[in-house]
Amino acid sequence: MRMTDVIQKKRDGGALSPEELSFFIQEYVAGRIPDYQAAALLMAIWYRGMDPTETAQLTWCMAQSGEMVDLSSIPGVKVDKHSTGGVGDKTTLVVAPLVAACGVPVAKMSGRGLGFTGGTIDKLESIPGLRTSFDREQFFEIVRKTGLAVVGQSGELALADKKLYALRDVTCTVDSLPLIASSIMSKKLAAGADAIVLDVKTGSGAFMKTLEESIQLAQAMVRIGEHHGRPTVALVTDMDRPLGWAVGNALEVAEAADTLRGRGPQDLTQLCLRLAQEMLGAAGLGGPEDCRRAAQQALDTGEGFSRLCRMVEAQGGDSQVLEDTHRLPQASCVHPVKSPQSGWLCHMETAACGRASMVLGAGRERKEDPVDPAAGLVLRKKPGDWVEAGEVLALLHTNRPQTVEEAQTLLLKATAFSKEPPRQPPLVQARVTAQEVERF
Ligand code: URA
Repeated sequence: MRMTDVIQKKRDGGALSPEELSFFIQEYVAGRIPDYQAAALLMAIWYRGMDPTETAQLTWCMAQSGEMVDLSSIPGVKVDKHSTGGVGDKTTLVVAPLVAACGVPVAKMSGRGLGFTGGTIDKLESIPGLRTSFDREQFFEIVRKTGLAVVGQSGELALADKKLYALRDVTCTVDSLPLIASSIMSKKLAAGADAIVLDVKTGSGAFMKTLEESIQLAQAMVRIGEHHGRPTVALVTDMDRPLGWAVGNALEVAEAADTLRGRGPQDLTQLCLRLAQEMLGAAGLGGPEDCRRAAQQALDTGEGFSRLCRMVEAQGGDSQVLEDTHRLPQASCVHPVKSPQSGWLCHMETAACGRASMVLGAGRERKEDPVDPAAGLVLRKKPGDWVEAGEVLALLHTNRPQTVEEAQTLLLKATAFSKEPPRQPPLVQARVTAQEVERF
């Protein structure tokens, strides 16, 4: 087989066969196809797209290009959860313990973040002593003992995705629906869970800005999961404003702990309960009502919070910081951003809130940059609130006081006011399964 023929077929709008896709992935990972030919194929895919079968086959080839994790030594149905990423999204830290508290094991591999804030692993590492790197057997043993573990994604998972993502990043081919769907799902398939729950974000802080695009991405990923025998369901959820109040690593850990103790922001609490319900449903625990009740009970009894503490201890961390969150890393400078006017807060550009948090030190511009666990911001007002002139909109937390002005400017520019109370979009906007799209 020749790579030029594969490129030409896709350039002319053809569907690639499993053999052609497998040839491309295997030879590219082995270093026998040069980047310029891979880039040409990516651009042809960007223009021509891929049909569902092609996308599912590409995903499988990508998954198999690295380690395929076998979770079968952990008893029970293992359900994975993935979020396409958003500002203030700390749901894994709440949902995984709730689900584990209901008796469903969670063996989760998460990533670090690039951009706005850290990923789940960066957030967890703001807990003193906590480790996220374990060999496979240690990882499984923690899950068997405590019901859950959240560890760093192995560098060996979906090797093709790592190479292709780096190439997409510099060839303007990231925003292709089949390429995004196959990239995300290759890692999910390789991570070994029996079923998958996806949280596809939509809005100004998300990859996909409109509901229709987000539903299409959700459908593409659900089809891939189902094609490979992993029952998959997706919720399309609002990212037109940050989730919860806190954005930044230790600040988000504190908010997740508060949420598990019943004192969290309403939007975060509701979304976590809904995601936990979906995960429990996927594990076969019962119908939606039963699963919702079980998740709510895990929250109300504090069993979810205890699970998070047990996981933190099992991973070498100090769980006392979850009881007393002031013992998490604290920034030396906390600066209030005051409202320049009175009115209804009608919009807060989510990506700009993320950028402000990154400027304060919470995120990375390049993958080798360190993150400051203490940095970030805590919103005091969100869209839908009435604000008086001079009231505090947000608190900026940083160890680099010279960044405050830039972060404040970003935040104020991102904020819009109206005379009338704004309409609030629903938190969960759609639910996508293999059979249907339910809109809310
Ligand atoms: N996240 C991924 O893992 N891959 C993409 O292509 C986009 C988001």
